[in-house]
Amino acid sequence: MKAAIINQFGSPDVFEIKDIEKPIIKPDQLLIKVKTVGLNPVDWKQRKGNHKLILGSPFPIVLGYDICGEVVETGDEINKFKKGDIVFGAIDNKYGGALTEFALGHENCFSLKPDNITVEEAAAFPMVSLTSLQAFRDIVNLEAGQTVLLNGASGGVGHIAIQVAKIMGAKVIAVASSKSKEFVEQFKPDSFVDYKEKNILELDKKVDVFFDIAGNYDFLKTKHLLNPQGIYLNPNYINTIIKMPLYKLHQIFSKGKKAKTFIMKHNNFDLDLIAQWISENKLKVNIDKTFPLEQISVAHEYAQKGHNKGKNVVVISN
Ligand SMILES: NC(=O)c1ccc[n+]([C@@H]2O[C@H](COP(=O)([O-])OP(=O)(O)OC[C@H]3O[C@@H](n4cnc5c(N)ncnc54)[C@H](OP(=O)(O)O)[C@@H]3O)[C@@H](O)[C@H]2O)c1
Repeated sequence: MKAAIINQFGSPDVFEIKDIEKPIIKPDQLLIKVKTVGLNPVDWKQRKGNHKLILGSPFPIVLGYDICGEVVETGDEINKFKKGDIVFGAIDNKYGGALTEFALGHENCFSLKPDNITVEEAAAFPMVSLTSLQAFRDIVNLEAGQTVLLNGASGGVGHIAIQVAKIMGAKVIAVASSKSKEFVEQFKPDSFVDYKEKNILELDKKVDVFFDIAGNYDFLKTKHLLNPQGIYLNPNYINTIIKMPLYKLHQIFSKGKKAKTFIMKHNNFDLDLIAQWISENKLKVNIDKTFPLEQISVAHEYAQKGHNKGKNVVVISN
């Protein structure tokens, strides 16, 4: 089967389109004929080799987590899905394995694709919507009426996080550059701040959650913006976890204010909830660009600039 593989870590040019063996399904997995693959920063970070100390270097590596495709085979233990189902989800293999014609994932990674979205949109949703939902519900226990600042509101996580925070009844301050203002405002944040015009560290408002999606601040710089018990949340796990001992020390003198980080968990119940919100037209995803598999290097080059409005998607088959 055709796949975009890497045989070394490095620049977007390391991709090669090659024929590789079709993967062999386990009893608790689905084999998916991949239609579309959503790109996330984790893909280009892994391509650069940022996670090689944790995940190793099992070349040839097929990258990519977020997929939409057709179930073509089910393992013996699977009863939730059947052949022919069109599913979407973030697959749970080391390094993913989505940028190819057939990919494997455990049942708990998938939900049925809602009828009211395209296969491109379906592949764009999983990681960013699971991240937003779990961040607000599980990590910061967001309550209706609380105020969330989203730094990086126009990107993949950001534009979904605005909508999830609003669904949960929070007030949203969206931070992005002025060129993204119109795009961001369609998701109805309560206010918009252009980070190039206004230093957000000088904001005259306090927030309950500072969600540093772009990751260019830290707990020490932002804690004066937090209400008592407020939380600085950074989804950039590795960069944040190494600062945690320092943050914990500062938390002692910070009126209950805390710093947190987390990694999204694969959970089909959460994805089912997201699918329900999509079906009810409560959650929309924006596709910035689509690319054929052959243009994977161009796609990664564009995605890693980090100024997309919403998501980028690679189309594998119809
Ligand atoms: N922990 C997890 O499980 C998890 C899951 C998903 C993502 N993440 C992490 O979350 C981060 C964001 O992911 P993403 O998918 O949203 O990335 P993305 O789609 O590349 O979006 C990045 C956004 O950051 C904004 N930005 C860039 N520089 C900025 C600045 N100086 N100030 C404010 N905003 C700025 C950009 O907006 P402008 O174009 O307007 O500048 C862009 O919209 C990545 O580090 C990713 O690895 C973690």
